[in-house]
Amino acid sequence: MRKTRLLLLAPVVLAASTLSPAYAAEKLTYYCSAQEDWCQLMATGFEEATGIKVSMTRKSSGETLAQIKAEASNPKGDIWWGGTGDPHLQAAEEGLSDAYESPLRAEQHDWAIRQSESASNQTMGIYSGALGYGYNEDVLKANDLPAPQCWKDLLKPEYKGHVQMANPNSSGTAYTTLATIVQLFGEEEGFEFMKGLHKNINQYTKSGSAPIKAAARGENTIGIVFLHDAVKQAASGFPIKAVAPCEGTGYEIGGMSLIKGGRNPENARKFYDWALQADVQTRALEVKAFQVMSNKSATSSPMAPDLASIKLIDYDFKKYGSSAERKRLLKKWDDEVSVLPQ
Ligand code: F6P
Repeated sequence: MRKTRLLLLAPVVLAASTLSPAYAAEKLTYYCSAQEDWCQLMATGFEEATGIKVSMTRKSSGETLAQIKAEASNPKGDIWWGGTGDPHLQAAEEGLSDAYESPLRAEQHDWAIRQSESASNQTMGIYSGALGYGYNEDVLKANDLPAPQCWKDLLKPEYKGHVQMANPNSSGTAYTTLATIVQLFGEEEGFEFMKGLHKNINQYTKSGSAPIKAAARGENTIGIVFLHDAVKQAASGFPIKAVAPCEGTGYEIGGMSLIKGGRNPENARKFYDWALQADVQTRALEVKAFQVMSNKSATSSPMAPDLASIKLIDYDFKKYGSSAERKRLLKKWDDEVSVLPQ
């Protein structure tokens, strides 16, 4: 009796085990750290192009790195797309991502390829954009405030309570701000700047673009963000003016990485190749994502900030994307800046 039951069960078990790889081939767990609407567009675009079912989570760059780290012994994600390059570089250094050279690599700008090479191909540059800030012209006028033009203008007492930025622990934008200020002014003066700025900050948000969305709604005056995020609000009809600070500024190279140990590695590589195509990157304009795309043939909008006309620093991605430096700067900001009274 016992023997017959076992025999009957055997084919069922076999069928399930031959089926499971096929089920797996239809899925992709996608972590996204770019703007929500662009993340969504990429998810549905990939589903439509391949029939692979995408499950997406949108979190800021630092938060996603923390999640991938926490899940390292049992990875849940397959691919991490978008977000500033520094935490992607840190993930590579900490062995959380897999190396890959896409057949589409030759179509990409040198800066995107260099980012990949600097991390043994464990990440790839997918877009770039300069840092700065934006302000609501109406709110500024209503408060009788002068138009700021430089980083150091933001320290003036009249802007108290009028400036918003994200928390550099969760947000790649805010970490880029901290690293930019340190590179522009030197570490000592840079931290003095961050302490002075702290006095004028009304809130540290979780996500990098939140301060300019709040400014667009009239709930904040000045938001320290990537310029493309400020231009997106202006292009959506809000009275937002984008400022490239007079002293010069830093920039990001947005990243894409394959998560080590992901359950659907083949689908992750499909997404990776697909996301590097020119026509896929050009679709960013549908959601007013005005970054400079990595594919040399992707179309950019005339409204996009012109990086060639902005005074950019030679941002040291190797140093500021290294695990030790990123952790050290964040701890110093936590210990010496965020604890200060306002
Ligand atoms: O909103 C888009 C964007 O600014 C990207 O260019 C950037 O990589 C990402 O957001 C950073 O987001 P966060 O600061 O929330 O990590």
